[in-house]
Amino acid sequence: MRQRLAFALGYLRNPRHVGAIAPASRALAQAILDEVLRNDARVLIEVGAGTGAITRALVPALERLERFVVIERDPGFARLLSTAFPGLEVLNRCASSVDQLPLHAHDPVTVVSSLPLLSMPKAEVQKCVAAILLLMAHRPGSRLIQYTYAAPHLRPFANIPYGWRWRRVASVWANLPPATVWSLEQTPRGISIVH
Ligand SMILES: C[S@@+](CC[C@H](N)C(=O)[O-])C[C@H]1O[C@@H](n2cnc3c(N)ncnc32)[C@H](O)[C@@H]1O
Repeated sequence: MRQRLAFALGYLRNPRHVGAIAPASRALAQAILDEVLRNDARVLIEVGAGTGAITRALVPALERLERFVVIERDPGFARLLSTAFPGLEVLNRCASSVDQLPLHAHDPVTVVSSLPLLSMPKAEVQKCVAAILLLMAHRPGSRLIQYTYAAPHLRPFANIPYGWRWRRVASVWANLPPATVWSLEQTPRGISIVH
């Protein structure tokens, strides 16, 4: 209940950046956890964590991780996340700085993004997407898991680098609004895809 209230207040503070009227449902958070557990990257980075509905579901993945970094630009949400998850690295900053994180070179990362790409200012979307792609570029086996509220066939963003593809992971109807979970990952060798 408190989480919902905090979320609604965050939405009133900044509707374009929050981009949804309710936190992620358990069904959506579970779909994302299932996808995170599909590979063995030992660094997990969540961007745009809001009130932590997905963060909470991802905590069980901690036992197989070396690092779990949470990035949230809203100071009120970031405070809430630091209090709720004292064991995680919560950073109150823009996701466009994700490529500056001090990480071991070449270690694969999984990025989970709740960034509302359709409602955020375009220039900010470009900076955040560029930083995420740069972070993943030299780390084979990295993935971006992004969910959207758009029509299920619409990919989160276009102009992805050669050798990468979007895979639709799940449609989650039990969410307000219904969501589609996508994974941006390297194309398996031998398959060429026209974007
Ligand atoms: C859809 S809400 C997150 C919902 C979250 N999964 C939950 O259920 O509480 C999007 C979040 O992204 C954050 N955000 C928006 N732009 C951001 C940016 N450039 N960098 C980091 N966080 C950002 C917003 O402050 C908001 O908390």
